[in-house]
Amino acid sequence: MNIAVVGTGYVGLVAGTCFAATGNDVVCVDIVAEKIAALKAGKVPIYEPGLEELVQRNLEEQRLSFSTDLAAAVSQAAVIFIAVGTPQGDDGRADIRQVLATAQGIARAMNGPKTIVNKSTSPVGTAEKIKEVMAPLAKHPFAVVSNPEFLKEGAAVEDFMKPDRVVVGSDNPAAIEQLKELYEPFVRTGNPILVMDARSAEMSKYAANAMLAAKISFINEVSNLCEKMGADVNEVRRAMALDRRIGPHFIFPGVGYGGSCFPKDVRAAIAMGEEELEMPLLRAVEKVNERQKKLLVEKVTRHFGENLKGKTFALWGLSFKPRTDDMRDAPAIVVAEALLKAGAVVHAHDPEAMDEAKKIFGDRISYFRRNYDALKGADALLIVTEWNEFRRPNFALIKQLLKEPVIFDGRNIYDPEDLRKMGFTYFSIGRRDG
Ligand SMILES: NC(=O)c1ccc[n+]([C@@H]2O[C@H](COP(=O)([O-])OP(=O)(O)OC[C@H]3O[C@@H](n4cnc5c(N)ncnc54)[C@H](O)[C@@H]3O)[C@@H](O)[C@H]2O)c1
Repeated sequence: MNIAVVGTGYVGLVAGTCFAATGNDVVCVDIVAEKIAALKAGKVPIYEPGLEELVQRNLEEQRLSFSTDLAAAVSQAAVIFIAVGTPQGDDGRADIRQVLATAQGIARAMNGPKTIVNKSTSPVGTAEKIKEVMAPLAKHPFAVVSNPEFLKEGAAVEDFMKPDRVVVGSDNPAAIEQLKELYEPFVRTGNPILVMDARSAEMSKYAANAMLAAKISFINEVSNLCEKMGADVNEVRRAMALDRRIGPHFIFPGVGYGGSCFPKDVRAAIAMGEEELEMPLLRAVEKVNERQKKLLVEKVTRHFGENLKGKTFALWGLSFKPRTDDMRDAPAIVVAEALLKAGAVVHAHDPEAMDEAKKIFGDRISYFRRNYDALKGADALLIVTEWNEFRRPNFALIKQLLKEPVIFDGRNIYDPEDLRKMGFTYFSIGRRDG
């Protein structure tokens, strides 16, 4: 099938490449010319495991191409995916202007019947709005489908290739068939393609992300209670996870959720309800998360005092989670800013996100290519993101390089007992160590 994907970010680039990898002819479109130029040369501007190889292979085999020319891409395609940004607007609502502008651009360029598929996370009612803005401009019939994307950064290609489910929201039988045909290669193991109305499809994405964010805030709140009551959240979590109604996933305490989706999608869900529903649960999810992001530095100041002038801290991990370079709304931003505000010097290391971090912090923090180099002259180490390479470090070397053997572990990746035996002062989340 001939496909166009508009927006070549985490979602659009992965979707376009994976559709090409199953034999479709795909043009990926973006308004950022440098991005398209890099992609044409096989260079992927984001870090996403496995993606660059897949882009290069499909480029070479000429199933995948990149362009800034929306009209040309639309004229060749039967199905056009919209995968542009839906950032948070001033009032917490999702700002869907990029989606609507893209839809209008598609309508103007149509040279025959088309199926327009919205993959951007968009408030309920967006499919109808897309139809409204396209109708006066389109000279040919078109169908609009809501097809929210559930991939995770860090495992995006894998998730797209083997989705838990595919959600297709439309009342147009022909468009539904096109989508089923496109997704059929990815659901061969029996995971379902769920067909529903567009409003329910749009809502599914917000409900899923709100639930995941709620799980994180829930365990974070429990972890804080554990700390207060002298319980160990790791033990509590294990006991909870074995209850089949709860399960083991997504109940790891930490420094709060971040990234380009959960924070803005929770706020957008709250905003959707606002006029008629108060949404107290999701407000609490957000409140707990905001507090949790401050927790690690609170532990630091409890140990070192409020004034951190003259102190240096090494941060391991900057991206909002491992296996991505995405710094959008990363808890590391809150941690580093709070340390800087208290007068501290920040040494940072991340395996992939340092270029992105430089766009945020500039030269206000120092960057170290090797994780151990960040420790030289530092008063303590803070674990902010649980990259695999931090899980089994050389503790003797850490001890030798730090001024004092103090670790604040925001992701509970070390064992408090082991660390104590090695002579570390060790603080983590929701355990008996502080
Ligand atoms: N990142 C994720 O993990 C993820 C997962 C599921 C859903 N989503 C949703 O998917 C959407 C895209 O997210 P993302 O992370 O890929 O965003 P992104 O910021 O990485 O990419 C968006 C791309 O769209 C381009 N763009 C903006 N306006 C355009 C226009 N008019 N024409 C062509 N290109 C245009 C931008 O230049 C950018 O390259 C959002 O709604 C997001 O909420 C994201």
